[in-house]
Amino acid sequence: MIITKTFKMAELIHDNFELLSVLRKFNIPLGFSEKTVDEVCAEHRINTDFFLEIVNSFNDSEYFPQNKMRAHDVEDILFYLRNTHKIYLNKKVPEIADLIEKLEFPKDHEKNKALLKNFFNEYRQEFILHIQREEERIYPYITALSDALRNYKTDAAFYNNIQQYVIADYQKEHEDVEEKLYDLKNIIIKYLPVPENAETYNAILIKLFKLEKDLNEHSRIEENVIIPKVSEMENVFFEAVKDGKMLIV
Ligand SMILES: [Fe+2]
Ligand SMILES: [Fe+2]
Repeated sequence: MIITKTFKMAELIHDNFELLSVLRKFNIPLGFSEKTVDEVCAEHRINTDFFLEIVNSFNDSEYFPQNKMRAHDVEDILFYLRNTHKIYLNKKVPEIADLIEKLEFPKDHEKNKALLKNFFNEYRQEFILHIQREEERIYPYITALSDALRNYKTDAAFYNNIQQYVIADYQKEHEDVEEKLYDLKNIIIKYLPVPENAETYNAILIKLFKLEKDLNEHSRIEENVIIPKVSEMENVFFEAVKDGKMLIV
C-alpha cells in the first residue's frame, strides 16, 4: 500500500508506529487531529512529495523512487539527513551506551562488559567521525555548489575546492557504518554469556537492529540520491565554467 497525501497523518502512525522516527527527522510533532499528510506538511513547510517518498520507502524496502527523490531541492534532502545525524548522535547512540553501562554480568564474567563497552566505544568514535566529515566537509560543499548554480556565481575558494575534491571522491571514501553494527550484534547473539539482566541485554539488541535498519535507509539516500544528484550538479557547474557563464570572484 502506497501512502498518499490525502491519508490522515494519525492513521499513518496507527498503521506503523515505527514511522514516528521519520516524523522526528522532519521535526513534525504529534497532535495531528484529523489533518491529512498534505495539511501537516504544509503547516511545517515540508515538501509533501519528498515526505511521502521517504515514508513509503521506510514502510516498504522495495519502494525507493530514486529518480523522483533526486529531483528535490538538495537542501530539503540535506535537512532530513542532518536531522537524522542529530538523532543518531544525541539519542540513539547514547541510549545504547547507557544500556551497556547497566548490564550486570556475574562476578567472574565482568570482563565481558568491558569487552562490549570497548567494541561499542570504538564503533561510536568511528561513527562520530563519519558524521563529522559529512557535516563539516561534504554537506557544506553541496550547499556551496547549490548556491553557485542558483546565482551563477561562486568564490575562488570554492572553485579551488571543486577542482581537487568532487563527490566521486566522497563516494569512494564513504564507509559502511552498518557493517560493524552487524559484528556487534553477532558478539551478543553468538558469543557472550547472558548477563543477569537479560531484559536490558535484549533491549540493546533491539536498539542495534533498529539503528542498523535506520542507517541502511540513511546511507541509501546518501549513496543513491545525494551522490548522483550532486554529480549531475557538478557537471552543470563545469559546463557553466567552460561556457564562461559562472562568475568566479
Ligand atoms: Fe550521513
Ligand atoms: Fe554517511
